[in-house]
Amino acid sequence: MATWSNFNLQNSASPLMEQIIFFHDHTLIILIMITILVGYLMINLFFNKYINRFLLEGQMIELIWTIIPTITLIFIALPSLRLLYLLDELNNPLITLKSIGHQWYWSYEYSDFNNIEFDSYMINYEKFNINNFRLLDVDNRIILPMNNQIRIMVTATDVIHSWTIPSLGVKIDANPGRLNQTNLFINRPGIFFGQCSEICGANHSFMPIMIESISIKNFINWINNYS
Ligand code: CUA
Repeated sequence: MATWSNFNLQNSASPLMEQIIFFHDHTLIILIMITILVGYLMINLFFNKYINRFLLEGQMIELIWTIIPTITLIFIALPSLRLLYLLDELNNPLITLKSIGHQWYWSYEYSDFNNIEFDSYMINYEKFNINNFRLLDVDNRIILPMNNQIRIMVTATDVIHSWTIPSLGVKIDANPGRLNQTNLFINRPGIFFGQCSEICGANHSFMPIMIESISIKNFINWINNYS
């Protein structure tokens, strides 16, 4: 989760988020190189004395300064497309979690197992104890098994919400009247936090998402003992 003065992306807890971080760093390096080059050229323009009153055209330099940015863009576009298709891929999911956005809370359904369903509200500040995270803790957590492909179906009942978990690389809009699909794979046990990231109304900030990732054995135990 995000903690104090965490300026960067959160640590990844899924293979796809790892790829997203790699792509971010790759693109940032290209961006820095361009900024340094252009900055150097602009500073130089102020101080040189290259004057040519009769300059009308320069075919060769225009060819060069068109083709070089094109190639640079390809170096960003191809990894970006690769990532886009990787994020969309879903092979043989173990379970499906339905998450439904409401004003202003999430509700969840595990329709694979005799219809487990529950609402997930943020814990009120007045009911806090020392273990709770302010604005992030919920009363009913999502329980999911680690090291498994999980399908997420997302929708909403009133306005557009967005189901977003930074450390797992998931961000998908929840639209009323539409069923969106995404997937996630959690590669360690732990608690992962997310928030709604579509401006959905007055209490937009107060509909957090909390995932508890546990081993498959404990997950089956949880399913069996759910009442
Ligand atoms: Cu739901 Cu913002």
